[in-house]
Amino acid sequence: VGGITLTAQAENTGGTDSAGTSADGSLVFDRDDFTKKTESIADASGTEHSVTYRFYKARDYVTHPSDSGHQSLVVSVPVTIDGKAVDASNAPIVLANAVGAYMPSTVADATGVGQAKLEMTGMGGGTGDPMPSGMPSGGTGGGMAGGTGAVNGMVNLAKLALVAGYVVVEPGTRGRSLTDSSGTYYGTAPAVIVDLKAAVRYLRANKGRVPGNVERIVSTGTSAGGASSALLGASGDSEIYEPYLRQAGAADASDAIFATGAWCPITDLEHADGAYEWNWGTLPTQSTGKTVDQNVSKELRSQFAEYQASLNLRGLKGSRFGKITARNYADYLLEHYLRPSATKYLAALPASERETYLAENTFITWQNDRAVFTWEGYLAHVARRKKTQPAFDAFDLSAGENNEFGEGTTKARHFTAYSARNDTTGLSGKRVDSDIPEKLKLMNPMFHLLEERNPHRSRHWWIRLGTSDTDTALTVAANLAMAVDNLGDEVDHAYYWDKGHATNEDPGDFFKWVAEVTG
Ligand code: DHB
Repeated sequence: VGGITLTAQAENTGGTDSAGTSADGSLVFDRDDFTKKTESIADASGTEHSVTYRFYKARDYVTHPSDSGHQSLVVSVPVTIDGKAVDASNAPIVLANAVGAYMPSTVADATGVGQAKLEMTGMGGGTGDPMPSGMPSGGTGGGMAGGTGAVNGMVNLAKLALVAGYVVVEPGTRGRSLTDSSGTYYGTAPAVIVDLKAAVRYLRANKGRVPGNVERIVSTGTSAGGASSALLGASGDSEIYEPYLRQAGAADASDAIFATGAWCPITDLEHADGAYEWNWGTLPTQSTGKTVDQNVSKELRSQFAEYQASLNLRGLKGSRFGKITARNYADYLLEHYLRPSATKYLAALPASERETYLAENTFITWQNDRAVFTWEGYLAHVARRKKTQPAFDAFDLSAGENNEFGEGTTKARHFTAYSARNDTTGLSGKRVDSDIPEKLKLMNPMFHLLEERNPHRSRHWWIRLGTSDTDTALTVAANLAMAVDNLGDEVDHAYYWDKGHATNEDPGDFFKWVAEVTG
């Protein structure tokens, strides 16, 4: 791919032009190109408000989109809420991605806020392929398509952000199922992060033209979208994306963001198989009711122990546990997350309901208004693992993540040495392809945090996970939280008791936190 001349520069803040953003291939945000809309939108506590806002329909955020149906964004700016004027000209910008399952998302046809659609067709249906159960089907045509909220356990963060007075930007993104006319996969890794970065660069290049404060971009996302949000936060201004961003024709501007919200991030993929077996390895599988191969489980678990020890992570906020290893991790999770989460849940119940819950869940002892239980008790309570084994790099290449690491006309590839060695599809090499190590860096926030200690990362982190979410190990989110905490960043990490995948139980608290950290 030859060099591409950008037609919009970061310094181009002239403001007199009203050119479209894509008609001439430029990345100039036309602030006059909006429609005014009024909608009733419920806030985080469920109260409806009449919101009048400017809606800027889809516009490309790169000059050379390989697919402008996905590489475009919409912007919503509150003007009045319940008749009261809102000045959002310098408000924080909530960048709400709609990514799920590493599949494509689009805002091309959106006519208002919170209409981003996740495209779940053509996912393939291997046994390891994620069917995000927390994602209610929605939108038209059933399927898995739904708004930004649909990927977030019925919570539409884009709408909630708008009614909270923020500028809301919803980007579409390429995803793993996309192929061009020659059958080439063009939405696999690292397309999703390249696109999110390009969207951020577009906003920053349009500083002064685009409504809101581009120095206060807060990213949100759930599951694969949570992973992408965390990666966006961790990798700000990293040079390793430069060739991809140049090829797409991204604006020449910073892609650093201010704060990161990540719900149940499905990240650190190359280590997630080991973590999964360490966490859920003894539980029967949801689909078959059968326990997985315990020899494989043991091998993967020992990989996790080695990996975890190598991270040198200390428990959050000066925890008494010191370095967290496979040995003390269960106790750390119990003390810092699981018991407090159960305690909060039970304390909020009326006494009679609490008693009923405790009678049905005898693994919990209610002592001095606190829930006490063991790791084994907790595991038995969760009861089932969602995924087969290995959970992410399937021996038969059937996992969604195998597709995420597809390349060229090859739909699915191995990305761990262990699964490549144990491949059952008749691969000749039994090794990962030579480009895989670089792709893993491009996709893993832990690389940017632990190896690079990236100074341009976001410094504020909101991380959430349901305690019954077996889409990945609990350690994935907890390690992410420790990584940023140990670097000195501010992190708010908590678990929702008895909640499954892609749930969001405290969006009101999230927006309170956003106001605090951006204030
Ligand atoms: C998602 C769920 C998964 O189990 C997975 O492996 C990847 C992504 C999701 O819900 O986005």
